[in-house]
Amino acid sequence: MLGLPELEMAGTVAAYVSVGTEPATQGLIFALWKRGTYVLLPVLLADGDLDWASYEGPDSLVPGPRGLLEPSERRRGVMSITSADLVIAPALAVDGTGRRLGRGGGSYDRALARVGPAVLTMALLYDGELVDEVPAGDHDQAVRAVALPSHGISRLG
Ligand SMILES: Nc1ncnc2c1ncn2[C@@H]1O[C@H](COP(=O)(O)OP(=O)(O)OP(=O)(O)O)[C@@H](O)[C@H]1O
Ligand SMILES: [Mg+2]
Repeated sequence: MLGLPELEMAGTVAAYVSVGTEPATQGLIFALWKRGTYVLLPVLLADGDLDWASYEGPDSLVPGPRGLLEPSERRRGVMSITSADLVIAPALAVDGTGRRLGRGGGSYDRALARVGPAVLTMALLYDGELVDEVPAGDHDQAVRAVALPSHGISRLG
């Protein structure tokens, strides 16, 4: 991920702190921050939408709802994801056209709907989670690439 030109070029990256068995993102977030990238992390709101605040090092994370770690910095508003040059999103599975299966909150469907068409949106998956087809509805937002351990980054769509 760190060698991806779009990630090297990005001044602002929207990412997330992985939880449970998700592919771990803490090392990536730390490395981005260390090299001077402005990293936005989500704050889960009561209605399931996502607010955003900046990552300012490991000590800037605090426990949030549902076992999540959240940024403690000032919240920038749900629209601040529009300032990201690249968006890294979680997913349980993605299909070849980029349709993604989340955890059922619709949080990323709302957040990704605000992201402009030229922004690279990417899901981090394990091998086997890029599948032939995922069930999707009209509200579901696709991602434009996936990162897989054994295949690196693939563009979709
Ligand atoms: N743009 C939206 N505005 C309001 N509610 C939405 C929106 N998109 C999705 N939702 C709500 O979220 C619910 C769950 O959506 P879905 O099952 O696709 O979640 P998901 O994609 O698994 O979750 P996530 O997007 O957080 O990864 C939908 O049934 C809908 O009620
Ligand atoms: Mg969805």
